[in-house]
Amino acid sequence: MKIIKTKKGVQKEIARLRRQGRSIGFVPTMGYFHEGHLSLMRQSVRENDVTVVSLFVNPTQFGPKEDLARYPRDLGRDSRMAREVGVDILFVPSIEEMYPEFEGTRDKGQGTGKACAFGRVPCPMSRVTVKVGPIGDVLCGASRPGHFDGVATVVVKLLNIVTPDVMYLGEKDAQQVVVLKKVVKDMDLPVRIRTCPIFREPDGLAMSSRNVYLSPTEREEAVVLSRALREAASRIRSGERDGQRIISEIKKLILEGAHASIDYVSVVDAVGLSPVRRISGNVLIALAARFGKTRLIDNITVKVHGQ
Ligand code: PAJ
Repeated sequence: MKIIKTKKGVQKEIARLRRQGRSIGFVPTMGYFHEGHLSLMRQSVRENDVTVVSLFVNPTQFGPKEDLARYPRDLGRDSRMAREVGVDILFVPSIEEMYPEFEGTRDKGQGTGKACAFGRVPCPMSRVTVKVGPIGDVLCGASRPGHFDGVATVVVKLLNIVTPDVMYLGEKDAQQVVVLKKVVKDMDLPVRIRTCPIFREPDGLAMSSRNVYLSPTEREEAVVLSRALREAASRIRSGERDGQRIISEIKKLILEGAHASIDYVSVVDAVGLSPVRRISGNVLIALAARFGKTRLIDNITVKVHGQ
């Protein structure tokens, strides 16, 4: 596995592989790998000649009060894990490599925990960004303004650098999948998107790099999220069609089972993310809740046939 730190380095390597006619799969990540990340990499390794993984903790998708500075990092461990699953190229750019205009403002975003120079904070330098529009304002976007613009901007940059045939995304971040599919479609980006199911701990908690923040009690209580979603899905399968009742039931289960504060629980149409009152077709039940300082998300998709 090659570890490459520069855009030029990746582009040179990709050009060489393209001359050999190789297909390229790409998995964008922010590192601190767990089985969820590895499942995307394995899928790409199975389906492509070459797998490229990017590892970049993207400052533009963090709000000023979010966990950019303390986001877990361990390049040694990550590169061992990526190598073991058969990744060919690990692209690990610095902030300056991805955002040269960041230079001089570094302390504002990295290391000190102070406000990020990008995202919600007005940036002194002008730069071109991707704006995803209203689809980025609902669900997670409602409490993380600018987050999906940051995600879309960095992913478009990464796609332009790596030029993969296929990009692999996890359904754990359901809204991210919807947003990035729309970006690719609306901007005619020449890449296919493949999604992979949520990888869970044995007790049901969705794997996340942020799970390491949880105290032992929070970790135990966090299982309530997946339990509440499964319970809701089973109610829908047994005939419940009222979106609001499903939301209330999930909120009740979470608050009974954990010392958590709920950010949102929503039942939405799985394609356009618009709220669903009467459940039919493909619905996404998505939620976010805080356990102490840690914000966790989870979701489940339920298909309802007929009425
Ligand atoms: P990150 O949170 O590191 O996630 C990288 C990829 O792994 C995403 O597609 C995410 O959905 C997937 N993933 C995370 N946990 C998963 C789980 N338990 N099961 C299956 N897949 C899982 O998402 C990001 O990084 C960033 O926003 C990024 C797209 C890299 C842009 O910066």
